[in-house]
Amino acid sequence: MAIETRPLRPAFGAEVVGLDLNEDLDHDTFAAIQQAFLDYQVLVFRRQNLNPGAHVAVARRFGEVQVHVLNQYHADSHPELFFLSNLDENGQPNGRHPDLGTLEWHTDGSWQRMTGQATMIYAIEVPMTGGETEICDMYGAYHELDKATRHHYEQLRVIHNLDYSRSRYPAHEPLNAAQRDAVPPVDHPLVRTHPETGRRCIYLGDHAETIVGMDYLAGRNLVDRINREVINPARVYCHHWQRDDVMIWDNRCVMHRARPFDTANDRRVVRRCTVIGDAPY
Ligand code: SIN
Repeated sequence: MAIETRPLRPAFGAEVVGLDLNEDLDHDTFAAIQQAFLDYQVLVFRRQNLNPGAHVAVARRFGEVQVHVLNQYHADSHPELFFLSNLDENGQPNGRHPDLGTLEWHTDGSWQRMTGQATMIYAIEVPMTGGETEICDMYGAYHELDKATRHHYEQLRVIHNLDYSRSRYPAHEPLNAAQRDAVPPVDHPLVRTHPETGRRCIYLGDHAETIVGMDYLAGRNLVDRINREVINPARVYCHHWQRDDVMIWDNRCVMHRARPFDTANDRRVVRRCTVIGDAPY
């Protein structure tokens, strides 16, 4: 079955229209979604009213889903779902951003050996202004490099460390001992080959700490510089959320970040399910 898609940006991103993700998707329909996911890197589905069970079920069609090590974010009865909310126990804005790290460009699960494949996020409440999610194409970031820089980057391996990226935001509670033990630092190539499309792309982001074999600070500075340089507004899709939107992106070839909003007066509640991918090569 063909699905109807409408491009969001000239080079990547598409809205899928006419599908209800709460329904059981037949084999051909899901295969068409999966192909669109590889072709466009980010898919948007509007007006979904997605229940938690269906959220996990659709994510599972892409592969095994992650139970995040930060268990304080798990949704009741669905540990596969990760809640990001600025509401207190009375449902009122608490003035705190739920996860400051999400405001920096990153890719989900890069701090694990088997990194994030798809992330599927559902908007329950959306702020009146701000709180968008931006997605940046990392195939394009690699493609734009000159030959010498490509060659240089292809030699580098990068250490990704959740404990490091969490500790950068003093307003966050740090990982506890059990969480830290569960996610030791891992290293990945700075240039990875997408396992399904065979295309090369930059793989970095906010969980990247330093470069294997380099002096720590020199490696840190290089990570920061490359993280800045690979973001080009011409390759960014900015998603302005509407309530009941679902967005799915491919962590293997895009980076993303959330944009700030008025956490004291406005409301933003989303839940996320991340599918586990492979070890980058
Ligand atoms: C995330 O970084 O995974 C969440 C992004 C968002 O809240 O928009």
